[in-house]
Amino acid sequence: MNTKQDAPSAQARPVTAPDIRERKNGEKICCLTAYDYPSGLIADRAGVDVVLVGDSLSMVVLGREDTLSVTVDEMVHHTRAAARGVKRALLVADMPFMSYATVDRALATAARLMGEGGARAVKLEGGLPVVPQIEALVAAGAPVMAHVGLTPQHVAKFGGFKAQGRSADAAKALIEDAQAVEAAGAFSVVIEAVPVEVAQLITDAVDIPTIGIGAGNVTDGQILVFHDVLGLFDRFTPKFVRRYAELGEASTDAIVRYRDDVRRTLFPADKNTFFMPEDQVDQVRKIKIKKKK
Ligand code: KIV
Repeated sequence: MNTKQDAPSAQARPVTAPDIRERKNGEKICCLTAYDYPSGLIADRAGVDVVLVGDSLSMVVLGREDTLSVTVDEMVHHTRAAARGVKRALLVADMPFMSYATVDRALATAARLMGEGGARAVKLEGGLPVVPQIEALVAAGAPVMAHVGLTPQHVAKFGGFKAQGRSADAAKALIEDAQAVEAAGAFSVVIEAVPVEVAQLITDAVDIPTIGIGAGNVTDGQILVFHDVLGLFDRFTPKFVRRYAELGEASTDAIVRYRDDVRRTLFPADKNTFFMPEDQVDQVRKIKIKKKK
């Protein structure tokens, strides 16, 4: 397959939140995270529909244990970098932990992610408890992607990164959360780490697209983390990840070869080297250099 030919042309109209909203039950929506200019460019060139600057930034780029400590400043910085590479996909930025604890804080955070960062929508975690924030954001002009199920910002409450919605009661609560965020005005909802049966029920229960991660093959779209897809993060690999490349290993191999070439003076070669014009070579050789003592 020639991916360059299959990817949409660079002239294609940018994807908007309403475009994604209309994809319910249509062509599956492909979403991927990105955190900077090269990852944004790669995702966009590959033709994904939505690029999310996820707060997974904290783990896969900044090397921290969880997503809780990522700041609004860090998210703005990385969103701005990703925005330079993303020309067509819808660029969504995650609102960090506690940065939308109140409606006022949610509005201030979205203003920065969209105004300074260049995101065209924001994502926040939670269901019923964040309805006032979603309503206020949407009213202010910020499209909202919601996120229910395993919401990593609640890892302390869950006691770890554990699948959610595994009992009938828990499944019912998740359906209510998804319906609440839809009624509040979210244009789509991420469902993370829930049994496929629950993902199916949620997908049937709402008219906005569901974007699954660890939610089986029944949602309206899928999202994965850039570093997981490319084999660049190996601290752990959740069951729901499929690696499409092993770039971590390939990168280490490449750098080992570079190191060996440097040690064996095989790099740089003539083709990597600047040479003086012929007529200057003799003259430059005549320059007398006095070594400084
Ligand atoms: O932060 C993130 O990367 C996410 C997605 C994987 C849904 O929230």
